[in-house]
Formats: sequence, C-alpha cells, structure tokens
Amino acid sequence: MKNIKKTALVTGANKGIGKAIAIKLIKNGIKVIGTSTTQYGVQIINKYAKKNGFGLILDLKDTNSITEKIKEIYKNKYAIDILINNAGIKLDKLLVYMNDQEWEDVIKINLTSIFYTSKAVIRSMIKKKSGRIITISSIIGYIGGKGQINYSTSKSGLIGFHKSLALEVASKGITVNIVSPGLIQTDFIKDLNIFQYKKYLSQIPMKRLGKVEEIADAVIFLSSKKASYITGQTLHVNGGMYM
Ligand SMILES: NC(=O)c1ccc[n+]([C@@H]2O[C@H](COP(=O)([O-])OP(=O)(O)OC[C@H]3O[C@@H](n4cnc5c(N)ncnc54)[C@H](OP(=O)(O)O)[C@@H]3O)[C@@H](O)[C@H]2O)c1
Repeated sequence: MKNIKKTALVTGANKGIGKAIAIKLIKNGIKVIGTSTTQYGVQIINKYAKKNGFGLILDLKDTNSITEKIKEIYKNKYAIDILINNAGIKLDKLLVYMNDQEWEDVIKINLTSIFYTSKAVIRSMIKKKSGRIITISSIIGYIGGKGQINYSTSKSGLIGFHKSLALEVASKGITVNIVSPGLIQTDFIKDLNIFQYKKYLSQIPMKRLGKVEEIADAVIFLSSKKASYITGQTLHVNGGMYM
C-alpha cells in the first residue's frame, strides 16, 4: 500500500544512494525535499522530483545552517514526516598520516550533523505522534576498516545515537533505524583500484556489488507502515559480507 501526502527530507539526494532513495520515495507517493551541496545538484533533484518535491542547498559541515535550513522548511509549511540522513564522505588514511581536518570533517558530516538534523525535526514528529528517522551507516562501522578510522568511528557512533533516540521517542510513534550498506556501486567507491576491488569482491558471498536500488528498498520498507514495530535496529544490506 502506498504512503500518501507525507514529506521526506533526504540529505545527499543528487546522486548515488540518496538519489535512488528519493526517487523510490516519490514513486511511493511521498513528497521529497532533497539536499545537495551544489546548485548543480539542486537542479538534478528538481529535474527528477518535478512537482513531487524540490532541491535545497545544504552543507552538513556548517552545523548552524542545518538548523536554519530545516526551520525554513517548516516555515514554508512542510512538515517533515520522514528524515533520511544519507549524505556522507570518506577521507581514508592510516592513523599515522591522518590530520586533524580529515578526522574532524568526517566526524562532522557523517555523525555530528545527524544530531542537528534529528534535533530539528524531532519536536514536530513528537507533536504529530508519528515519524521515521533512517540513517545510512556503513559496514565499516561494524567491522572496522584499515585506513578508515575517521569513517568507521563516524559510522559506529551512529549506533549509540540511534538506539538512544529510539528509546526516547518509542512511545511517540516515531521509529529510528539504520540501514547499513556493504559495497554499493556509486561514485563513493570510484577511487578503489583494481586490486582493492578484487579483494573486496572476494569477501562478498554474493560475489557482486550492491545496487543503489537495493539500499533504497530497505529504506522504503523502514519508512513504511509495515515497519511500524521496528525501532533501534540496523538493517544490513551487504550481500552476506557481514552477518
Ligand atoms: N557506496 C558505498 O559503497 C557505501 C557503502 C556504505 C555506506 N555508504 C554510505 O552511503 C551514503 C551515500 O553514499 P553514496 O555511495 O551514495 O556516495 P556519493 O554518490 O558519493 O554521494 C554522497 C552524497 O553526500 C553528499 N555530501 C557530501 N558531502 C556533503 C556535505 N558536506 N554536506 C551535505 N551533503 C554532502 C553529496 O552531495 P554533493 O554531491 O552535492 O556534494 C552526495 O549527494 C554515505 O553516507 C556513505 O557513507 C556508501
């Protein structure tokens, strides 16, 4: 059954996993406000959303602007029923070579921003006694990654955040969950060399990368009524790479 007349905020909706999520949400009758860091990205979102939503510039590194931009959305009479924290970055380096900026940027964009986006929508969801918060984590948050201390920490930090928030709002009809992808075919992994690629592939029991639509399907499920009794969970979508 289709969800109707709900609005979702999807961060990083101009490409990759976020775009696939936004397109599937629209197909399911949900209005989408999608974010990008660039005007070009906003144009992409406007193009596929047509009358079913629009794009918005948002840089998650600028934490003050997150609160401001989301306030603006409410002022324009959109209630956010579904928050999809999808945007993320990686800046891989071994700890010995990693500088402060590389640590701080990844923690800020992948973890700290979720505090601000969630805080900006939670009061309205509590008032409505309904809501969905779904965040895209990563298998690396669960198994670790050599050269990925900043990324792995940012993603595993999400676990405590989501379990705690799930407890705080469980009685208010709000669910808070994580979708954790394995290796998915997007620009995010375009810098892998052939050796790294083959090594990863050998670790995936299904012997293939995941598709963005396969992550989007998990998100659609968790955002639907069918998942109304699921909260504080991680749904792993990784071809068997981590169980
Ligand atoms: N692909 C994988 O194998 C994989 C595996 C596990 C987890 N993930 C997670 O999946 C999520 C989406 O990744 P993807 O594969 O779709 O990557 P992607 O194609 O590189 O897309 C990343 C998205 O994040 C946005 N973004 C980057 N920096 C931002 C910032 N400072 N503020 C706001 N938005 C920002 C980008 O927006 P702009 O283009 O406008 O800058 C873009 O929309 C990430 O959280 C990633 O950690 C991916």
